[in-house]
Parts: sequence; structure tokens; C-alpha cells
Amino acid sequence: MSRPAFGIRGTGLCVPDKVLTNADISALVDTSDAWITQRTGIKERRMVVEGQSTSDLCIAASRIALEDAGLKPSDIDLIILATVTPDQHVPATACKIQAELGMKGVPAFDLAAGCTGFVYATNVAAQFFWAGTAQNILVIGAECLTRITNYTDRGSCILFGDGAGAVIYSTDFEHGEVLSASMEADGKGYDVMYQRAGGARQPLTPELLEAREHQLVIHGRQVYKFAVNKMVELVNRERANNPELELGGVIPHQMNQRIIEGARERLEIDEDRIFVNIQRYGNTSAASIPLALDEARRSGWFEGQDGKLIVLCSFGAGLTWGSVGLRW
Ligand code: UT7
Repeated sequence: MSRPAFGIRGTGLCVPDKVLTNADISALVDTSDAWITQRTGIKERRMVVEGQSTSDLCIAASRIALEDAGLKPSDIDLIILATVTPDQHVPATACKIQAELGMKGVPAFDLAAGCTGFVYATNVAAQFFWAGTAQNILVIGAECLTRITNYTDRGSCILFGDGAGAVIYSTDFEHGEVLSASMEADGKGYDVMYQRAGGARQPLTPELLEAREHQLVIHGRQVYKFAVNKMVELVNRERANNPELELGGVIPHQMNQRIIEGARERLEIDEDRIFVNIQRYGNTSAASIPLALDEARRSGWFEGQDGKLIVLCSFGAGLTWGSVGLRW
């Protein structure tokens, strides 16, 4: 028996209005626009202000995606929010989104897989579609990483930004059929990117807060090598999964432009067939692929790609990684 097909029916994004430029960061730590641009490709990123949070960005992005899809909130069967920066740990932020959008009774949960969150959430959604138990699923990738960024650490504070991207996958779609999806983890890399305090192992104390132990720590060099290798492996994996399709493009996690460029050279793919918007948003973790996907769709990047293979690939804290193969 063939499994039900599903693909992308609508997308939307929302980023905060406040822009944090390289000049702004240079006023906080010993760095420069030239260093950040050359080492990461990032020029600016967005930042939530007092009173804004992850759910606000998710709700706005989801409304746009619903309109784009031509669907009503009551058409959605399931909400999955990929994030490591929920509004609060209890309850799931996805439940707040469900209530605000008026999606009564629909299951809603958060999923934490670091920067790979959106790809993991797409894998989870795929199981419902392929089992024939859903028609429309709202998958959101969203972060407010600036809330847990250490603005005294020049090795990490240059990277992160806030935003949300929403995708409605549907059995009734025109483009972006999900043909294959993969997700993996290696917990031996648990200490490569982490937030030490604020959970059950190290509840927050005034001392830990003062020591910034609730903020993100990254071992950038270790992540860098892992990410280049994984991007090459994941694109080749999706090519092998779909040998009958010509590669039309790659939308990678926007971690660092040099990581993307290093992988692109090894993969021998034309520059314009790898979508990059890191210069304007920085690394938005689980939000980065859906943000890029929405901008790619609206900018005409998919023109002429009908029937070709589009690969989404990501790698991040955990360590986790995964990929999605789409037929455009
Ligand atoms: O998505 C999850 C988190 N993302 C990542 O972890 C991103 C992956 N890693 C990276 O993007 C890069 O490793 C970084 C951008 C974080 C760092 O770039 P790099 O080319 O790997 O630099 P490095 O860590 O090897 O440091 C080279 C030098 C060091 O100085 P010395 O020891 O050679 O004197 C650093 O202290 O650059 C120095 N440095 C900086 N200098 C100016 C590190 N950060 C900065 C900075 N401005 N912001």
C-alpha cells in the first residue's frame, strides 16, 4: 500500500523589529564588524524587546502561514513547536499558540533538538502523514536566543538572533512534497553546546545567575568542524535517497556562512543554489530553516526548480542532525 503524500502548503515568518548590528555588538565586547563579517557572514540579527517572547513571534508567523495556505485554524490537526527557548518550561508554548489561534482540542507540544528542531519536527509530522492520521500539521521553528546569550562572551554573542518560521504541511499541496526525512543524535556531544543552570540538575540560584550559568556556552571550533562534515553528509544522503531527481538547491541551517561555504565547495554546488540569509538574521537555531524557506519561496528562488530535489539539512546542540528531501 502506498503511503499518503504530503508537502508544503503555506509558510510565514515573524522577526522582531529591533535590529542588533555588528556595531552594536562591538560596543559590548572586543570585536569588530570586519571580524564578524569575515568569520561568520553575519551583519545584523533581530532581538526581542521587553514584553515580547517566542509565542508572540510564533502566533504572528502562523497567522501568515495559515493565510498563505488558505486554511482556517480549525483545519489544523496538530501543532509542533521546535524551540529551546519556550516562553516558560511549563506548560508547552505550543499550547499557548493553540489557544491564541483558536485551534480547539488540537494536540500541541514543544520539541527540543537544538538547531535541528525544525528538521526533527518535520520528521515527527511525517510519521502522522505517512500513517494516514493527519491532513494538515503546523510546524513552527522559533527562538529567542538573545534571552540566553552571554553578551560578555565575544565567541558566542556575535552569532545569535531571534525569529519564528511557520510551515503548514498538508496532504493537499502544490510544491515541496516530503519524499524522505532523517534525524540522528550523538549524546557524546552533550557538552559541546549547553546551558548549565535553570533546569532540574542545577536549579537557578542568585549565585548561578550572577555567574551567567543560565546562558549559552558553545565550543565554536568543535561545532564548526562537525557542522561542515554533517552538511556534506546530509546533502549526499538526500541525493542518495532520491537518485531519480536532479538537485535543485539546499536550504541549510544558517549557523555560519563559512560553514555553509566550506560544505558547498566540497559538494560542488553553485553558490546561488544554496539559500543563505544569515547576514540579516544571524543564527536563529530552530527558526533558521523555516525563516529561510519562507524567504526563498517569496523571493522566487524556487523558480525553475519544479520537480527537482530540494534538501533541508541541520545540525546542532545535542549533538543532533537531520535532513529532509523535498520534490519541488
Ligand atoms: O548553532 C549552534 C552554535 N553555533 C556555533 O557554534 C557556530 C559554530 N562556530 C563558529 O561559527 C565559529 O567557530 C565562531 C564564529 C564561533 C568562531 O570563529 P573561528 O574562526 O572558529 O574563531 P576561533 O574560535 O578559532 O578563534 C580565533 C581567534 C581567537 O583568538 P586567538 O586565540 O587566535 O588570539 C579568538 O579569541 O579569534 C578570536 N575571537 C574573536 N576576535 C574578534 C573569537 N571571537 C572573536 C570576536 N571578535 N567576536
